[in-house]
Amino acid sequence: MIEYLGHSAFYIQTQKAKILIDPFILPPLTPFNQEVSDIFVTHGHGDHIGDAINISKTKGAQITTMFELANYCNAQGAKALGVNLGGKINYPWGEAVFVHAEHSSSAPDGSYGGVAAGVVLNIDGFTIYHAGDTAVFSDMKLIKELYKPDVAMLPVGGFYTMGVQEALLAAEFIGAKMVIPMHYNTFDAIKADVEAFKTGVVKLGSKCVIMSSGEKIEL
Ligand code: NI
Ligand code: MN
Repeated sequence: MIEYLGHSAFYIQTQKAKILIDPFILPPLTPFNQEVSDIFVTHGHGDHIGDAINISKTKGAQITTMFELANYCNAQGAKALGVNLGGKINYPWGEAVFVHAEHSSSAPDGSYGGVAAGVVLNIDGFTIYHAGDTAVFSDMKLIKELYKPDVAMLPVGGFYTMGVQEALLAAEFIGAKMVIPMHYNTFDAIKADVEAFKTGVVKLGSKCVIMSSGEKIEL
């Protein structure tokens, strides 16, 4: 099951996996009251690290993120595993790999957070690519070639990340069967025509699922 928690936050639940990605969770879905085994944070900006440290502390969930940001999380009393781009990390439910993103990153106190990333999760053979915050880049084709994502979560809001036009090229490069738009309409600066995005994705031959906050889909 994939639950959209708004902005770029998702909860993925299978029998073994209880995963949060970029848990910037807004009311009424916070405080988050479901079981969490792992938290993936793509970069240190507040709208992505969100409530990760607090959730790690209260639920004993492990944060996996870039090495420098993991050091920050550990210093705040969270349980964090520091990783870097391109290497697979094993979990009881499958594996993860952090991948390139064209963006910046800093920890909430302004310290260096390492580079921004996206993350690819393989959960019991089902592959999810969460792009984090990013511009479009042609090496998204490598993500397709290497991991063949079943689902791609792509930012479409513009201003800080790619917008609809760029995200459609990204969707073409990645070639996922299902695309879920994210990182739009949360703030004025990132208002986007998500229906236009959906029309474009359907033209590519993929399915586009526009999720509202709190909505769930089965894997
Ligand atoms: Ni960001
Ligand atoms: Mn962001």
